[in-house]
Amino acid sequence: MRALVTGGSGFIGSNVVKLLIGEGYNVRVLDNLSSGYIENIAEYVNAKKVEFIKGDITHYPEVEAAMANVDVVFHLAASVGRQRSLDNPQLDSEINLIGTVNVLEAMRKCGAKRIVYSSSAAMFGELVTPTIDENHPQNADSPYGVSKLAAEKMILAYSGIYDITGVCLRYFNIYGVNQRFDLYGNVIPIFAKRIFAGEPITIYGDGSQTRDFVNAKDVAIANLLASKSENGTDVYNLGSGESVTINWLAEKMQEIAGINVGIVYAPERPADVKHCKANADKTARVLGFKASVGLEEGLKSYLDWYKQNCV
Ligand SMILES: NC(=O)c1ccc[n+]([C@@H]2O[C@H](COP(=O)([O-])OP(=O)(O)OC[C@H]3O[C@@H](n4cnc5c(N)ncnc54)[C@H](O)[C@@H]3O)[C@@H](O)[C@H]2O)c1
Repeated sequence: MRALVTGGSGFIGSNVVKLLIGEGYNVRVLDNLSSGYIENIAEYVNAKKVEFIKGDITHYPEVEAAMANVDVVFHLAASVGRQRSLDNPQLDSEINLIGTVNVLEAMRKCGAKRIVYSSSAAMFGELVTPTIDENHPQNADSPYGVSKLAAEKMILAYSGIYDITGVCLRYFNIYGVNQRFDLYGNVIPIFAKRIFAGEPITIYGDGSQTRDFVNAKDVAIANLLASKSENGTDVYNLGSGESVTINWLAEKMQEIAGINVGIVYAPERPADVKHCKANADKTARVLGFKASVGLEEGLKSYLDWYKQNCV
């Protein structure tokens, strides 16, 4: 089985690559390294277990060249995150929407039949129910949310017209090994950076806001299950179905690291949602997915990795 992983040198993509290699897949990665790191997959590239193509999904000829003899596509390459999209709205749409059309067109021309798409809970926009199932209203409120939603819709449309099936996995908050701190980073790498720098953690608001965290190892498993599922085109929420407060997270990370830096509270940010938890029942029922890495265990392995690789 030959798989193309777009964005395969990124945080989640490299976890998908690792799993696919363990499963005996023939893996090709297409990535322009704009936010990914070749170090994430270097051992596989050097061992010739992964064919790495440095290329851009917004350049159609590069995508078509990477699609030769591919059976299944794991499409993760993206401009990631709300704030990045507010700073670069055109680039966000170009990569996330036009890039996805390029991937679908190349699939159609080269005969690749299945795509597993890394979508995002950002496509829901403002959350109006305490737990979010697949039918939650879709009112994306950032260029990023809109481009992820539009890409989903494009995949569903191509699946209706052509001989392609597409599974869209809407990720909630993903964390884990290979997640580095960057300016647009997520909460866990930001807290890790603070802890190891010996600086207090800043929490916006009173810290009672909740988030649903899933480890990237589990996300990789969900991608594999989605690719193999007998079920055709569909959308699934990918969360653990459990949530923790940001206060709990800050305390727990300090406890696990054995470093007490304290917490500083700053005013709440207007765009921050208060509570966010996936209803992942459909994902469990249809794809057989259940998050298996407990949050404490996952934070421990993350902090070990961060200390060795980022400090
Ligand atoms: N991290 C999360 O919590 C989260 C949540 C929801 C959805 N997602 C989705 O998961 C996917 C992976 O995100 P991530 O967190 O691993 O981010 P990441 O930035 O580590 O990975 C994105 C990868 O895509 C590559 N890339 C970007 N633009 C490209 C282009 N034009 N051509 C080729 N490659 C390009 C980057 O170099 C990087 O390797 C994305 O589609 C993102 O929208 C992530």
